[in-house]
Amino acid sequence: MSNGLEDVVAAETILSDVDGLAGRLIIRGQPLDALTGYASYEQVLALLWDGFFADLPEDLTTPLANARAAVYRVVEREQSLLAELPVYDGVRAVMARLPDDTDLETALLLTAAPAVALPAAIRLQAGKRPRAPQLGLGHAADMLSMLGDVAADPAPAAALDSYLVTVVDHGLNASTFAARVVASTLAGLNSSALAALGALKGPRHGGALGPVLDMLDAIGTADKAAAWIENELANGRRLMGFGHRIYRVRDPRADVLKAALERLTRSGAVDTTRVELAQQVEAVALAALKRHKPDRVLATNVEFYPALLLETLGFPRSAFTAIFAASRIGGWIAHAREEAANGRLIRPKSLYVGPVPRVAA
Ligand code: ACO
Repeated sequence: MSNGLEDVVAAETILSDVDGLAGRLIIRGQPLDALTGYASYEQVLALLWDGFFADLPEDLTTPLANARAAVYRVVEREQSLLAELPVYDGVRAVMARLPDDTDLETALLLTAAPAVALPAAIRLQAGKRPRAPQLGLGHAADMLSMLGDVAADPAPAAALDSYLVTVVDHGLNASTFAARVVASTLAGLNSSALAALGALKGPRHGGALGPVLDMLDAIGTADKAAAWIENELANGRRLMGFGHRIYRVRDPRADVLKAALERLTRSGAVDTTRVELAQQVEAVALAALKRHKPDRVLATNVEFYPALLLETLGFPRSAFTAIFAASRIGGWIAHAREEAANGRLIRPKSLYVGPVPRVAA
């Protein structure tokens, strides 16, 4: 038995490879740093989905924009739900209204769903009307345009696009595994996506983004970082944004997203004092983790810098995990299609350790 299925190989994939020792991530043959900042989210989607839909066009920009327009019609009907529910749950509710087929149209609608529902939810909860998507914009630029009161500048749109590209796929993580388990039963893409959404929500997976900022707020200034962190670790609490099941070195996604944040800083769109505080907290945390857990490499993970990036782009922290989902949905769909094609139901065994009935003498 392997607790947490650690080191168990449960699928063959052509989608992505996580090399935890080398700190390397490959997405369909491309190293991550050749994609982030160079390819758009739509281009990476086309790369990931290649071979999984017979009618996949080379350029997904317009089909995805059309899907955003279709989802917006659902969002308009579900405004009261989006205004009331926590953002993540509202996104999930909108997604549940979409079809549960396995074709390209369903895949595009599901991919559009978080991108459209989450800006609408944020606006509704701030007492504003949702803004409709615009056909001429790319996916990331349109998300920002639906969020703000004016069209997004190129630098923030490029930063969000970098984020969406960076976290789109990552081997057999918990949410992707959930998507594949459901797909192996031959349920539709929406069923896989909803299962994956549930898995992503937890703080050990996609739910650490907001708590990273809570930690920076609690620390306040760099001179208080060491004492605050020591106290957390002494009380057995985990530092959000550090540690990973697979990476035994720094998560490569942390580096490309730190670079994206630096590009945004240079564009003048960022409060640099916050970024400087984060860098100082990171250094103190890494040193403290090394002292407290000398046998375990606990490095910066993918959640640390994006938290600052997304905050800078104007997203409230209550929406961070839903933005993660807005990217990862592309990976979930590819994995679901790959798993369904494999044709074998995922059905592991459990080790029974409960009481056994007494056998009469
Ligand atoms: N801070 C302090 N201690 C930690 C941390 C951390 N961030 N992460 C792991 N440890 C410690 C554990 O307490 C444990 O110590 P012990 O052996 O003395 O009990 C040891 O390291 C191993 O921990 P596990 O939970 O077995 O390691 P696992 O591989 O399951 O952990 C995880 C991975 C869940 C991400 C963990 O590092 C964690 O909780 N990090 C903080 C939350 C976080 O940043 N989540 C986002 C992950 S990235 C993503 O999913 C997209």
